[in-house]
Amino acid sequence: MRLSYRIGTAALLIVAIILIKRHLDLVQDDSRVQSGWSFNGVSGGEGGGPGLSEPVASDKNQNNNNGANTPAAKGGFSMVGDGKNGPSADHKNNEDDDGIALGSRPMYETTPIIVPNDRVIVMAKLAAEDTAWVSNDLADWRNFIYTVDDINAAKHTPKNKGRESLAYLQYIVDHYDDLPSTIVFMHSHRDGFPVAWHTDTMVYSNVDSIRALQTDFVQRNGYANLRCQPSPGCPDEIRPFRDPPQQGQTTEHVYADAWKQLFNNTDVPEVVAVACCSQFAVSRDQVLKRPLSDYQWFYEWVLTTPLNDDLARHVMEYTWHIIFGQDPVYCPDTYQCYEDVYGTPYL
Ligand SMILES: *[C@@H]1O[C@H](CO)[C@@H](O)[C@H](O)[C@H]1NC(C)=O
Repeated sequence: MRLSYRIGTAALLIVAIILIKRHLDLVQDDSRVQSGWSFNGVSGGEGGGPGLSEPVASDKNQNNNNGANTPAAKGGFSMVGDGKNGPSADHKNNEDDDGIALGSRPMYETTPIIVPNDRVIVMAKLAAEDTAWVSNDLADWRNFIYTVDDINAAKHTPKNKGRESLAYLQYIVDHYDDLPSTIVFMHSHRDGFPVAWHTDTMVYSNVDSIRALQTDFVQRNGYANLRCQPSPGCPDEIRPFRDPPQQGQTTEHVYADAWKQLFNNTDVPEVVAVACCSQFAVSRDQVLKRPLSDYQWFYEWVLTTPLNDDLARHVMEYTWHIIFGQDPVYCPDTYQCYEDVYGTPYL
């Protein structure tokens, strides 16, 4: 009994070793083939030139069909090949390979590059607030959550100024060169009344609204306000030239000066309106329509304006849609807005 067990075990081991060795050989063979290709492509002297430049050259040939590019291609070869850095046997091999490479070029498979989670939620929070719900409930979104009142937090703004404004701008300034295609800017409250009163869904839920968000509309329009209910904000919240002007330091009262500082021009609109509350989505393409320096400029403005926290925030609240390419009055029909932003006219 024992002996037969041992023999059986030994036989199994041998079979396993043979299988593993075969597998390793196969893997090695694969990598040998691959390194052979890359050797041809990168460092194969005369042979290497065509490996790299042939696709371009042959494309050009097809397009131009006049051979004008041949000298250029030859120049390319000679630059690479002048070193005469291979024994002739190598050349021969490479030339053979080139024949194959040329013939089989159209057989290369291409794989589209799909970036997972190509969308992000950007948020400002107070140190005391719990925003774990963002990762838990909106797990297929990346998130960047800035603590505005604790400079020791992993992600933080240098100051608690303009409420969410610095966090929103900080994200753009820091990530201008690697933005995902959809960026949602929103508040730290998950749902419920009164904290999330300005979220449109049944239980004022930012989770429901983001799950329903039509990112293709964001891509098409560049900007989508997450709120469709017109009030407050529409149809004419800010009239910088109201006559007589509002009393005291209201947003409307300070808006014209703020505009001139923000945009370096005096084309202050007669009316500025947008559904309230600074929750919106933008596309990367829309963000990139402005140079990075603009966002740095807005950031600096929020950081340094003598306007208080609340006024600075309100000025930005009535400026985001303009920064992101919309007319000063952005008050789409409520049902159209629901249809566009959430995919149903009856949210
Ligand atoms: C405004 O002008 C300043 C100084 O010339 C410049 O650095 C900044 O980028 C401008 N901002 C905008 C939004 O045009």
